[in-house]
Amino acid sequence: MSKLWGGRFTKQTNKLVEEYTASIQFDKELAEEDIEGSLAHVQMLSECGVITKNDMEEIKRGLSIVLEKIQSGEFEYDVSHEDIHMNIENALIEEIGPVGGKLHTGRSRNDQVATDMHMYLVKKVKQFITHIELVQEAILTQAEEHLETVLPGYTHLQRAQPVSFAHHILAYFWMFERDKERFQDSLKRSNMLPLGAGALAGTTFPIDRHRTAELLGFDSVYPNSMDAVSDRDFILEFLSNASMLMMHMSRLSEEMVIWSSQEFQFIELDDSFCTGSSIMPQKKNPDVPELLRAKTGRVYGNLFSLLTVLKGLPLAYNKDMQEDKEGMFDTAKTLDGALQLLAPMIATMNVKKENMKQAVNEDYSNATDIADYLVNKGMTFRKSHEMIGKIVLHCIQENKYLLDLSLDEYKKFTPLFEEDVFEILKPYHVMNARKSYGGTSPEQIQNQLNLAKEHLKVEERIT
Ligand code: ARG
Repeated sequence: MSKLWGGRFTKQTNKLVEEYTASIQFDKELAEEDIEGSLAHVQMLSECGVITKNDMEEIKRGLSIVLEKIQSGEFEYDVSHEDIHMNIENALIEEIGPVGGKLHTGRSRNDQVATDMHMYLVKKVKQFITHIELVQEAILTQAEEHLETVLPGYTHLQRAQPVSFAHHILAYFWMFERDKERFQDSLKRSNMLPLGAGALAGTTFPIDRHRTAELLGFDSVYPNSMDAVSDRDFILEFLSNASMLMMHMSRLSEEMVIWSSQEFQFIELDDSFCTGSSIMPQKKNPDVPELLRAKTGRVYGNLFSLLTVLKGLPLAYNKDMQEDKEGMFDTAKTLDGALQLLAPMIATMNVKKENMKQAVNEDYSNATDIADYLVNKGMTFRKSHEMIGKIVLHCIQENKYLLDLSLDEYKKFTPLFEEDVFEILKPYHVMNARKSYGGTSPEQIQNQLNLAKEHLKVEERIT
């Protein structure tokens, strides 16, 4: 099989070398972007008078035949043509004859591949933004239902202070909001056209890169041809944003795993999102959040792998850069799966508010509130902290909770205690008392919910 670059060679390529250097096994994923880019390129070439209108039309006709074959699965990818660019160009020439050889005028695979990947990522990132919003909507719905559902809030995974379930889950709304903002912001940099940079230095043909950008919907054009073919920041930025998003989803997954355990029983995941055991008939395993948690590893790995590939590369294109693709595709697929499962998993989970309530009734997470109570009665916070610590110790020794002590027992510690202490110790009161901005009182959460809804609407307008 003759190579598009075969002119300078006198020997056939070693078969193993062919396999080793090819990227068609994975870059065929870019087929549609590659053809879209070529269609815009020939359109621009003809408008600039570099090729005739007839040639342009003939090439476009050929490209659409190739596209159909690819979409119908009929296209035969050939490793001897190395990558998607040369597979398509060869197929085009087979389809329409030598005029197909004009397609590659004024461009190189270096600016071509960069263009394909920019197009691919812009498309994917927009999808991810929409999918994150679906997760956020599922969170909002659960939050609205559980404004007054009290559960223990934890620090160090030790009971800390009672919080509303809405407050807990809304914390994730804001993490995803930032993830979305990062993706949105990254579009500025990935929606930039490399095509027309040539191999590295530009081209002698009188091309119009801004016209190509316009045809492909790019917002801007790389101002430096060497940067255009060497830059992989846009992929790194995607991998880094994806890592952070995955980390957030993984933390939420971890909570789902813990909450659905026998020990917690705070939620039950819907049967349709769980799997069973081949040996233990009673098991209902949270495989989806577990796998999501685990897949965070490969997403981080892809980021580190590309950072390492790039760190020692001189300008401009180096074959090393072909290693940018598999990680990018893998991360995109991993995010696709995770985001699409997370939204319905949140929406369908059963929040067991009675169990949550029971948990807060059986802990000391109201201790800070009696400390604050004594402060309001004139004691310094340090002194009251010390005293409540002793009261908690006393309770532990007596096998009681703070609400079980009598007023007489309280008064032995300090006469400042009155009957009203029992009211402030109730978990709902404890939660409701945190009225500071961003706190867990239902009225603060209502404000938070309103703000969250506004954010979702604003996003709708941007994307
Ligand atoms: N398959 C190549 C890649 O993905 C395309 C660019 C090849 N350029 C070259 N000069 N060999 O990086």
